[in-house]
This record gives sequence, structure tokens and C-alpha cells, in this order.
Amino acid sequence: MDNQYVYTKDLAAAYIKSQYVINDPSFEMFFDSVKRFSGDVHDSVVLDIGCGGGQLLQRCLVENAKFGCGIDISKSMIDIAKTGCSSSTPLRFTVGDACFLPYPSKAFDKVLSRYVFQCIIDCGSVFREINRVLVDGGYFVGIFTTTEVVEGYEHLFDTELPVLVNGTVPVTNLVKSKPAIMGAIADVALEVVHDEYITPDSVISDIYEYKAQATLRHNLIVLRKTKCAIVA
Ligand SMILES: C[S@@+](CC[C@H](N)C(=O)[O-])C[C@H]1O[C@@H](n2cnc3c(N)ncnc32)[C@H](O)[C@@H]1O
Repeated sequence: MDNQYVYTKDLAAAYIKSQYVINDPSFEMFFDSVKRFSGDVHDSVVLDIGCGGGQLLQRCLVENAKFGCGIDISKSMIDIAKTGCSSSTPLRFTVGDACFLPYPSKAFDKVLSRYVFQCIIDCGSVFREINRVLVDGGYFVGIFTTTEVVEGYEHLFDTELPVLVNGTVPVTNLVKSKPAIMGAIADVALEVVHDEYITPDSVISDIYEYKAQATLRHNLIVLRKTKCAIVA
């Protein structure tokens, strides 16, 4: 799975060290949003797409989720996630691509994803897969960044956007267009329950050549699978 956006061992370690302790306020804010917009995780079967070190699923277990699956394209991230839980814990972590989820249809009550869509070229495939694996009435709650560019710079969409983890370690994201992401959601007919820009916007690092032409925004999106949603 040779993907230039994969978190290598060093990058995964730096990322986990820098941001993802369980009491990180942005982490708790996301978890609060999950409960607020999709209901309690109690007794739910939950999937975390791009699960990184697995902290979100650990948090779901604290709230008595029934079972959790985490998938991440980075083996280093999955190794960290597996190290953080014993084999008796009802969590399973798998190396894999969000575009091809290795789970049966209608397997999950909730699908969550935190800061992953800006790493993925083909977000349409991911929303089709989310739609497939959700139960009818199930929820997707996700947070991700999109980029607004000034007029005349639309060619930047889906090109590389370098960001610094912890202010020092460079990682490559993509310049994602909000309308493109909303279009991919509309294609699978998942119902948009909530769509919010979380402030403040991110400060784009000086290493990005087009810093002056781009604004990086944080999106919180909640989707619901209705019975009439299109299943591929
Ligand atoms: C910014 S990190 C977020 C990690 C975790 N969700 C969190 O909030 O701590 C992005 C994660 O997405 C994963 N990722 C990138 N592309 C992916 C893909 N196509 N399928 C699955 N995971 C992917 C990366 O390996 C990385 O762990």
C-alpha cells in the first residue's frame, strides 16, 4: 500500500506525541459533537476511519460502546493503536484504505472520522463505503479541513498542501474543496444533518507556497443514512 500520504513510523510517533492525548480539548469537542448530533455511543458498534492511534475508539469504550473497529492506511499508526489496548478489549484495528472498507454492509451504528478527508484524493469512494457499512438510520460524524482559495487559484484543488505537525514535522495533505466534498455526499444521498465551520481557521504554515491565496477551514459534518439512501 504505497501511498505518499501514509504516516511513516516517525511521523506517526510525532503526531501522537504532539496532539492526541485523550484530554486534548479539540478531541473532547469532537466527542461531544458525536454525542450531541448522533446520540450516545452506549451499546453502539462504531467504526473510526483513519483511526490513527485509536484514542477515539478508546473514548467510545469509556462510554460503553459495544464494539469498535479502527482502520488506518498507516501500519505505524495501527501498531500504536494495538499497543494501546489488550486483546480482550472489544476493539479491532486494521491496516487498510478508507476507499475499500473490509467490513460487511450495514455493520455499524456510527462511523466517525477525524482529520482524514484532507488526506484522501477520492473522497467519493469513501462516502460510498460509509453509506454501505452504516445501518439504516446510522450516523456519520466527521471533522476535516477544506481550503478556500482566492479567485483564479482553483487549479490548486487536490494538489499538495504541506502542513507541520507540532510546528516542525512536515506532512502532506491536499487542498480539498468544500463543494467537491458536499457533491460527493450528495451523490450517495446521505442526509446532511449538520454542517458547521469550526473556528478559528487554521494558520497555514509558511512552507506553503500559496499561503496568501488559501484559507484552511475546519468542518464538522454529521450525516444520516436514511432508508432511501443509494447503496452502490
Ligand atoms: C491527521 S491524522 C488523524 C488521525 C486520527 N483520526 C486522529 O484524530 O488522531 C490522519 C490519519 O488518516 C490516515 N489516512 C490517510 N489516508 C488514509 C486512507 N486512504 N485510508 C485510511 N486512513 C488514511 C493517516 O494514516 C493518519 O493516521
